[in-house]
Amino acid sequence: MDLEQQTIISNCTLTDSQFYKLSHYITENYGIKLPLEKKVMLQSRLRKRLLALKLQSFAVYIEYLFQNKSENEHLIIEVSTNKTDMFREIHHFEYIANEFLPNYISEKSQNEELKIWSSACSSGEEPYTTAIVIEEFMLKNRPINYRIWSSDISTKMIQKAFLGIYKMDAIKDLPLELKKRYFLKSKDKLTNNVRVKPEIRSKAKFILLNLMDKTYDVPSDFDIIFCRNVLIYFNKETQEQVVDKLINKLKRGGILFIGHSESLMGMQLPIEMIKPTIFRKL
Ligand SMILES: C[S@@+](CC[C@H](N)C(=O)[O-])C[C@H]1O[C@@H](n2cnc3c(N)ncnc32)[C@H](O)[C@@H]1O
Repeated sequence: MDLEQQTIISNCTLTDSQFYKLSHYITENYGIKLPLEKKVMLQSRLRKRLLALKLQSFAVYIEYLFQNKSENEHLIIEVSTNKTDMFREIHHFEYIANEFLPNYISEKSQNEELKIWSSACSSGEEPYTTAIVIEEFMLKNRPINYRIWSSDISTKMIQKAFLGIYKMDAIKDLPLELKKRYFLKSKDKLTNNVRVKPEIRSKAKFILLNLMDKTYDVPSDFDIIFCRNVLIYFNKETQEQVVDKLINKLKRGGILFIGHSESLMGMQLPIEMIKPTIFRKL
């Protein structure tokens, strides 16, 4: 890319009407709401796409997007927020370790499969934390046959999650014995990366899935579903539709976790709240 083109693109502006076309498209396809205050953010993020595609204006980009399904993959990377952490919102993992699992092993046989779904898993910290919590529980109790379905709309995130490679910093707050038990240190001192051990990675099954889809191609008898810190990007109507479809994928008595700043208040759903952000299917 020459300097002249870079200059042209950095001067490109997104008009209000172009912004509305894009935001309408994004909300329709991914549920993510984009009010006008997000125009500058969208403009700056999409300039990267204009540069990469060597396009000279947003008008041409919009035409390109509507004609090329493959561009959706890049668009979602630019518009989604992927923030996540190991042991994020730890009370959910404490609930699994101290309440859910003791109850589970007292009722279920060792052959039964414990099915968990991390439905907006981002780069994988949520499913891997869940696996670590179950493994730790198993050390003090008995083996559990478990599998964690892990999905996200973003190909980039699913690829990262599948690899399970993180900066050492991502696990800096974990106790040393957990670091040793569940992570491998990169031999390359310069990268300072860690990788989730294969035994843990093999417990997670990664798939691309859009929560806006009419139906979800996953089993219908999950014991636990995580839907954390994604509903917040959707409008109320979409939130209710998504949660309704997720609850349909839970066993009776199954657990749904939502994020700390999300709420299901006022929704007509067959669930009861057992703790803030923790719900049980009736
Ligand atoms: C902020 S992260 C939350 C990650 C994790 N659940 C947590 O709480 O740490 C939100 C994730 O939702 C995903 N996402 C956004 N819209 C989605 C959709 N329509 N379907 C599935 N995933 C979506 C994004 O790609 C992003 O990885």
